[in-house]
Amino acid sequence: MNKKEGKVFVWPICTRIIHWTIGLSFFASFFTSFYKEYIHYHVAFGWIFGVMLCYRIIWGFIGPRYATFNTFRFNLRELKWYFQEKIIDRYRKIPPGHNPASSWYTVIVLSFGILIVASGILLYGIQDGAGVLGYLNKEHYASMDMWHNLHLYLSYILVVWAFIHITGVSVEQFYHKTSMVFAMITGYKKSEGEDTDITRCSNIASYVFIIISFSLFIYIISTYDNIVTKSIFTAINYESENGVFYVDCGDCHKIYPPFLLPKRSWHRIMNTLDNHFGEEITDANISKKARASILKYLEENAAENSTRKVSFRVLQSLSPKQAPKSITKVEYWRNAHKDIDRALYKNPKVKNQSNCFACHIGLENGIFLNEKIVLPKVK
Ligand code: HEC
Ligand code: HEC
Repeated sequence: MNKKEGKVFVWPICTRIIHWTIGLSFFASFFTSFYKEYIHYHVAFGWIFGVMLCYRIIWGFIGPRYATFNTFRFNLRELKWYFQEKIIDRYRKIPPGHNPASSWYTVIVLSFGILIVASGILLYGIQDGAGVLGYLNKEHYASMDMWHNLHLYLSYILVVWAFIHITGVSVEQFYHKTSMVFAMITGYKKSEGEDTDITRCSNIASYVFIIISFSLFIYIISTYDNIVTKSIFTAINYESENGVFYVDCGDCHKIYPPFLLPKRSWHRIMNTLDNHFGEEITDANISKKARASILKYLEENAAENSTRKVSFRVLQSLSPKQAPKSITKVEYWRNAHKDIDRALYKNPKVKNQSNCFACHIGLENGIFLNEKIVLPKVK
């Protein structure tokens, strides 16, 4: 016996929560990816998405009626008929569970979703040395572009795919009048068949997963250094690494980490201290011996010897002949800052573009985290 006449109870509450969590967390992580300073949110939504996808896959084997993969319809002839019937019979009957289109839809979401999450975790590890795979950065940083592109393109495909789904459901809702949108809200579908039954055990299991993914989200966004966001690049104490460099080069400005520029740039900077951005630095200011020690230290830690993204990108955007004295002359730097309101550089807290430290908190200790970017207010 069905609980409601003319309707089938297809989606129990936990299935609905899982459905909406998968959809919303995907879009939330997609939109937060455009804001570097919200990287933690991007990662947190991505993890929710991943945990829920895993659960949905398990659900596909042990879940209740209508949710399991063995009720999915993959026959291509049925798929064709599904679309033909849409055209010839506006008020056709719909199956209680997955129709051929939604079966294919779901399987593609699950597989692309898992690939997106996996490539995201790999990218975060390889490119930023952060998260559970942060240790991969040292060996594999040179492949960061490939992972970046893979993660990006897969995500765009899934966004388009999701819009196809939204369009399809809207057509069902408004043209075929099957009230499909409400089915995912109330759980009841206008169809024929038996109500689903959900065992207490799978009900509990669903809620456990829902709680795990939500707790994970809170955990990621509320703690900065946690297992899924922790970076292998921790604060560098330049004073203890090279005291002369710290004192002599930190006199007028905070320390510029050596990994920002290639060796040839540091050579040029150290060879032209008599005209250092309008300042004249003489042997009396920094002795010959000190210069040698500083240059050696700068070379050892220059961009070429670093696996950081910023070093990799700086080298990538310079031709072997270019040896800029300022990173603001590097195309990569200019691209990364092209959207910044120029008036901001006039702000007394910033003063000029080279004062990275005004916006990148902790840069003088080599900390280069996206979530540590703060923009001082324009007056
Ligand atoms: C007498 C003051 C003074 C000293 C000492 C000094 N600098 Fe500078 N440096 C400047 C000024 C001024 C600028 C221009 C940017 C600014 O106004 O902060 C600058 C800019 C730089 C930049 C360019 C930053 C960028 O990418 O735009 C680098 C790199 C740099 N200094 C390295 C060094 C190093 C290495 C030493 C030690 C050998 C050093 N500086 C010592 C005054 C100084
Ligand atoms: C007025 C504030 C401001 C100043 C000054 C500034 N930055 Fe930035 N920087 C930003 C912002 C904001 C972003 C992020 C832009 C975005 O969302 O794409 C950024 C992005 C970057 C990136 C790219 C990060 C990434 O992961 O793609 C690098 C590298 C960088 N800055 C280095 C520097 C260095 C080095 C200096 C000093 C020479 C500097 N910035 C000066 C605000 C600033």
